Amino acid sequence: MDINKPKNIDNLSNFERLHVPFVEVPYNLIKGSVFELRVRVGEIMHAMEEEHFITGIELHHDDRLIEKITLGPQMPPKCVFNTVFEENTCFRIVAVCNLHGMWERVVCVRA
Ligand SMILES: [Fe+2]
Repeated sequence: MDINKPKNIDNLSNFERLHVPFVEVPYNLIKGSVFELRVRVGEIMHAMEEEHFITGIELHHDDRLIEKITLGPQMPPKCVFNTVFEENTCFRIVAVCNLHGMWERVVCVRA
């Protein structure tokens, strides 16, 4: 399945705002220390109905799946990943919609 990437992350369409993960990164990150990536889908909260919902949210690093949260109808389309970084790097967060496929946001962290 192809991953949808926003054409302009600073000017998302309403459809993109529904699907591209919105990620909060804490300030004052410390290399080697666990921190929280708070994710919700999306800037406009996606529906979580029986026929149309976010099936999961994935955290990737260097093309490696680190963690996947499985979601279903009636659940809030959000999660918290506890992760760590050893050097300035970028993570990919992918939301999966049962009707509209996979949607990616890249988040870079630095100490
Ligand atoms: Fe959708």
